[in-house]
Amino acid sequence: MRRSHVFILISSGDAFKDSRSEHQTEECEMQLDEVSEVIDLLQIDVESDVAEERPGREDAGCSRNVLRKQRNWERQLAAKKNKRREEKQRRRMNREQESGVSGDNPQFTKRVMKAITRERLAEAQFTGLKLCVDLSMTDSMSDKEVSRLAGQLRRLYGSNKKATRPFRLFLTDLREDSRLYRECIRMNDGFLNYMMDITEESCQDLFPPETIIYLTPDAEEALQTVDADKVYVLGGLVDESIQKRLSFSRATELSLHTARLPIDEYMVKKNNSKNFHSKILAVNQVFDILLTFCSTGSWTEALQAWFPQGKGYVITPEDSQPLPVSQTQT
Ligand SMILES: C[S@@+](CC[C@H](N)C(=O)[O-])C[C@H]1O[C@@H](n2cnc3c(N)ncnc32)[C@H](O)[C@@H]1O
Repeated sequence: MRRSHVFILISSGDAFKDSRSEHQTEECEMQLDEVSEVIDLLQIDVESDVAEERPGREDAGCSRNVLRKQRNWERQLAAKKNKRREEKQRRRMNREQESGVSGDNPQFTKRVMKAITRERLAEAQFTGLKLCVDLSMTDSMSDKEVSRLAGQLRRLYGSNKKATRPFRLFLTDLREDSRLYRECIRMNDGFLNYMMDITEESCQDLFPPETIIYLTPDAEEALQTVDADKVYVLGGLVDESIQKRLSFSRATELSLHTARLPIDEYMVKKNNSKNFHSKILAVNQVFDILLTFCSTGSWTEALQAWFPQGKGYVITPEDSQPLPVSQTQT
């Protein structure tokens, strides 16, 4: 009798399977799971019946056996229920992701967010503030440094994509036969489709020299603001084997104007066990600071948000004497 009952359940499960909707399919799978549990249960009952009928076994032993099997079955059932619940949750999250509800902006689908980003980047080609990464110095870098630079360029582009007002970006002096170009293609998905200008030309070939401000930690003047009439340049360097003043030397050789981030103006040294203090940042970190400065107009906010903690500087406490805005600031 029990068996025929099982067959009825299985066939009703099949009927469910025929249904088109995903929800119904899930329901159907759950029904089938339940059927398999009933089968398990029946097997246990049947086995325990058999055990009870075995000659030479004492009643107490048998009932202990039955109880043990029942507990096992209950545990299995609870585990299966949990697994089913988790599976259901996972499917629901997958469905939400596929339908494209974005985490950052729940009212927009992923597709809409992508379209907005593309629109902003396209607009930046005409109206964005201009920033070049000068990649003319990569020959002096090790393979490891080249790989790290490729990663930093990916992060820099990622930050620009997220920005409400992205920059117009240029990767200058990037030759197609260079290690960096190959590494960018290898490491950065869709690199050749990045919405930026990738060129073998130098920034001084593209823009009048008087509009260029080369950012270097060794400049005397501090950057005061970011200006739409200027072109900002970052030196495409990674400092594993620290090559001091390289970007400063290059900028001076080319007679370009230089500026440093206004770290001395807004930050103070923080005591640390290694007595380590550095104002040299990675290109993507400098870029994040520039982006935040452009959206907030505040160096304090920008440096607070992005200056790496391990570099041994903190924002000057508010109660400290503020430094007068230097005449030398750019
Ligand atoms: C890792 S740093 C390279 C430091 C390197 N030793 C040099 O010759 O300048 C990479 C680039 O980030 C920018 N940068 C890093 N720290 C900076 C700072 N404090 N102010 C301005 N630019 C900075 C510069 O454009 C620099 O060339």
